[in-house]
Amino acid sequence: MLKFQLFLFLLFGILFFSGQFCDGKVMMEYIGATGVPVRFDPVPIEDGIDFHFILSFAVDANPSGNAQNGKFSPYWADTLTPESVAAIKKQHPNVKVMASLSGWSLGDKVLRWYNPVDIQLWISNAFSSLKSIAEEYHLDGVDIDYENFPKRNSTFAYCIGELITFLKNQSVISIATIAPFHTTTTPYIELFENYGDVIDFVNYQFYTDKVRKPKGYLEAFELRAEQFDKDKLLPSYEVNGRGIQGDAFFDALSLLEENEFTVNGVMIFSADASSSNDYYYERKSQDFLLNSTSV
Ligand SMILES: *[C@@H]1O[C@H](CO)[C@@H](O)[C@H](O)[C@H]1NC(C)=O
Ligand SMILES: *[C@@H]1O[C@H](CO)[C@@H](O)[C@H](O)[C@H]1NC(C)=O
Ligand SMILES: *[C@@H]1O[C@H](CO)[C@@H](O)[C@H](O)[C@H]1NC(C)=O
Repeated sequence: MLKFQLFLFLLFGILFFSGQFCDGKVMMEYIGATGVPVRFDPVPIEDGIDFHFILSFAVDANPSGNAQNGKFSPYWADTLTPESVAAIKKQHPNVKVMASLSGWSLGDKVLRWYNPVDIQLWISNAFSSLKSIAEEYHLDGVDIDYENFPKRNSTFAYCIGELITFLKNQSVISIATIAPFHTTTTPYIELFENYGDVIDFVNYQFYTDKVRKPKGYLEAFELRAEQFDKDKLLPSYEVNGRGIQGDAFFDALSLLEENEFTVNGVMIFSADASSSNDYYYERKSQDFLLNSTSV
């Protein structure tokens, strides 16, 4: 009898730990980009998922939008304080928090990658400013979301690739992701080809491909899986936004799995919009990921 209880105990232990730690299903949730006073606590977080909040954004610019030669500052909603990051991580040990770099604009100024005059100085400034932001906000990683590029020869892949490598090497961060969209794939492919080893996931913005049906989503995923790495590529959803909307997104996820893709996670943009529908897509995405883990 005692042996049987021990057996059950071990069996549940194994099931529990495999659900908890081994499958590596991830949620990526952008938060804080729109300026609304958004908070971490109302967002539903499932235990069996590695849940990443992506603070939006840290920007290499002063408040007027002028570039600072690699010196990044945080511009996400000021409700997302260092204390609130510490609290959500304490409450949910499966939560990681990252900072996304750049984004589309700051105020009414469109942000773009610019070729630094002194590349090594830019990398060194970026490293030290991000290190101090990471320490202050208890961050685990960075996401790369530059969205505008110079027409010709860009130093983007080299500077960002070296920056991520350095941040990881010095254990400032443990995770790095990139967020290409349909007109920015070229510089991101160059980055991924040269520095793919230090890039954990690709938060490809599928909503910019403007496909609205599961079949179109599958085709877009097939194309991006060829350009990047199918196992690092995450399907994504824009709440109240562009591209596929509603439950058709979950039909698309099922269709990916029927076509031999593994859905390793889901990226959602963003928590700022999701409070309006009680985080329906966060709940259902995590449900989908946990369901697909158990089969
Ligand atoms: C432009 O890119 C090419 C190919 O990567 C390189 O050989 C060349 O030196 C670059 N030119 C400048 C001005 O950076
Ligand atoms: C950092 O880089 C040095 C030099 O290449 C290497 O010896 C060391 O193992 C690296 N550390 C980590 C944590 O990657
Ligand atoms: C997960 O599985 C449950 C039980 O089979 C099912 O009711 C639910 O619809 C599934 N959720 C998703 C998002 O597939």
